[in-house]
Amino acid sequence: MRWAALLLALAAPAGAEVMPSVVAPPEPGSVSITDGLAAWARVYEVVSHPRCANCHTGSDHRPMWSGPEYDNAGPHGMNIIAGESRMGIETLPCATCHVTASTLDSAPHAAPNAMIDWRLAPVEMEWFGLTSAQVCAQMSDPERNGDRDWIELARHLQEDAAHGGFVAWGFQPGGDRQPAPHGLQSHIDDVLKWGAAGQPCPE
Ligand code: HEC
Ligand code: HEC
Repeated sequence: MRWAALLLALAAPAGAEVMPSVVAPPEPGSVSITDGLAAWARVYEVVSHPRCANCHTGSDHRPMWSGPEYDNAGPHGMNIIAGESRMGIETLPCATCHVTASTLDSAPHAAPNAMIDWRLAPVEMEWFGLTSAQVCAQMSDPERNGDRDWIELARHLQEDAAHGGFVAWGFQPGGDRQPAPHGLQSHIDDVLKWGAAGQPCPE
């Protein structure tokens, strides 16, 4: 079975230390729609959290400053626009302030860093301010999710974490920022449950 082969490939990343894993994905169809929808509701609590959604913004190319750390939710200060590149190459590169660092630590109100180059998610992966049904449709659509099935989505989360990427940062943002809820391994497990239930979406 295809997912079983993928699972084998995922189970033992070479040289990885204790990293979250895509452990034993449930058999497709083995999770009820009800449980799949409950798992999706938790997935949405993560992806709509400011630590994730502030970068998954739409076609105005603006990163957002929102969450309990910010007095008012609004576009990134200093008139930052990420442009078509989503890295600010056209104006002021994100990396001017968001350095690519060897750890995820950052001080309060300093520009957050990650171990990969800071940038916005592609426009079609927009989440900020969208409903659970809208984000669910986006994440289920290969045209808009980087051509990934549900196991590949889970694998993306795992691999990002292994490289100190943005998902790792969202769950461990440092600088007194509130992390995304539930924890990374639970989030991966919820994506797999949702997938095994057939990627059901709320109305
Ligand atoms: C610094 C900006 C940034 C932050 C913060 C961020 N992401 Fe992303 N995200 C990206 C970029 C860039 C991509 C595109 C990379 C790719 O598809 O390989 C992406 C792609 C994704 C994808 C691929 C599939 C899809 O449909 O969007 C998932 C899943 C994802 N991010 C989850 C998360 C989660 C969960 C969090 C919070 C814990 C998060 N991201 C926080 C920038 C960010
Ligand atoms: C001039 C410096 C500077 C540049 C350039 C810059 N940022 Fe920032 N960014 C900051 C600072 C400082 C903060 C933290 C503000 C705070 O905590 O009050 C921040 C915070 C953020 C946040 C919020 C993180 C969170 O959830 O708390 C996002 C998202 C973000 N930046 C994305 C970007 C993107 C994408 C680019 C490039 C298009 C960019 N920034 C360019 C300085 C900068």
